[in-house]
Amino acid sequence: MAAADVGRRLADQIRRAGPITFAEFHGAAVDAFFGEGRGAGRAGRDFITSPEVGSLFGTLVARALDEAWRRLADPDPFVLVDAGGGRGRLLADVLRARPACSRALRAVLVERSPALRDEARAVLDLEPAAVALGPFARDALDEPAEPILRSGPVVTALRDLPAVALTGVVAANELLDNLAVRLVERRDGGWAEVRVALAHDDSRFEELLVEAPADLAGVADELAGDAVVRHGDRLPIPAAAGHWLAHVATTLPRGELWIIDYADETAGLLSRGPNGPSGWLRTYRSHGRGTSPLDAPGEQDVTCDVALPWLRRAAARAGFTVQHETTQADWLRGLGLDELVGAGRQRWDAGAHRGDLEAIRGRSTALEGAALTDPAGLGAHHVMLLGRGEGRGPARPPAG
Ligand SMILES: C[S@@+](CC[C@H](N)C(=O)[O-])C[C@H]1O[C@@H](n2cnc3c(N)ncnc32)[C@H](O)[C@@H]1O
Repeated sequence: MAAADVGRRLADQIRRAGPITFAEFHGAAVDAFFGEGRGAGRAGRDFITSPEVGSLFGTLVARALDEAWRRLADPDPFVLVDAGGGRGRLLADVLRARPACSRALRAVLVERSPALRDEARAVLDLEPAAVALGPFARDALDEPAEPILRSGPVVTALRDLPAVALTGVVAANELLDNLAVRLVERRDGGWAEVRVALAHDDSRFEELLVEAPADLAGVADELAGDAVVRHGDRLPIPAAAGHWLAHVATTLPRGELWIIDYADETAGLLSRGPNGPSGWLRTYRSHGRGTSPLDAPGEQDVTCDVALPWLRRAAARAGFTVQHETTQADWLRGLGLDELVGAGRQRWDAGAHRGDLEAIRGRSTALEGAALTDPAGLGAHHVMLLGRGEGRGPARPPAG
């Protein structure tokens, strides 16, 4: 739905059926925003993500992919799903790095926005969805079709996670912070839910606090745990991410889920609060911060830090075990970022006076390394590596 229409549709819905949950508003606003092809990228877009910094991130993810492939005992086919993969930059860079698993690889861009899936054609050689996991062959008509080995990489783009069971990796870089959340606020020792209503003169959306339904209050209590929660404190309850995790679990009976995102523990969420420059509920547009999340739905990105205790519990319920948690900076260093950056610097030092392409690429790698490990930026992203199913070897040990 176009950004211009989403505000009207939400207003109609509220007039007809009363205030809606923040998650309903959030989901519609995010879908409309990305649906128009907006989102991650440099000039002319809205915010920078790790794949959009340059190809270094994808080069290192390709190494992580080979490690996972070996942990899973070299399956063929081996599927990499880039969930919420935007315009395909990460998959393109992973494929360009030619990982050892390439011949077994089926790379699937899962992206809700049709405009971004279309844009991905510029960097990915996309096969029709029907052959996404193929090619298959059968020896005789009454035999089941078997995948043809060593026929990768096959690349495709889908709107939703594949509906079949796969062995491989589902990677989600900055997806979960875009999945719709419900909001709760501590009131008189209990929980209120933040709903979205219309102002009396219909001119804008505004918050309305109602008593939280018992199931939502239960999730809020669980997330609050032992933390000190004061009157007026708020917490985000990931609503859509729970459904998404359950879907990943059915798609991935055996494999790994990598979540890389803005995230925090309950105490951090409580002390930072939702608002202000360091708040956990933020809006972005045109490489700057936007205004209130209730303003202009569809015209700004609305993102919310992932509540880590909730995520650990939801992942465990979906059958995943946490293999490793770290920061993006440490994860990438463990995959060899420093050597690649060092080699890049040497190429720049050797060729800077000539300014040739090789030297400029070297300088770019060094700059990308700094951006990807910046402790005040992308380097602080939380990395949660999860596993599911039998036959996995040991996870990557903590860097250092
Ligand atoms: C913040 S962007 C990240 C894009 C990309 N992963 C990157 O790092 O550059 C989030 C992306 O997730 C997509 N998205 C949101 N909800 C989704 C869902 N349920 N399934 C698939 N994609 C979704 C959005 O359309 C958007 O392109």
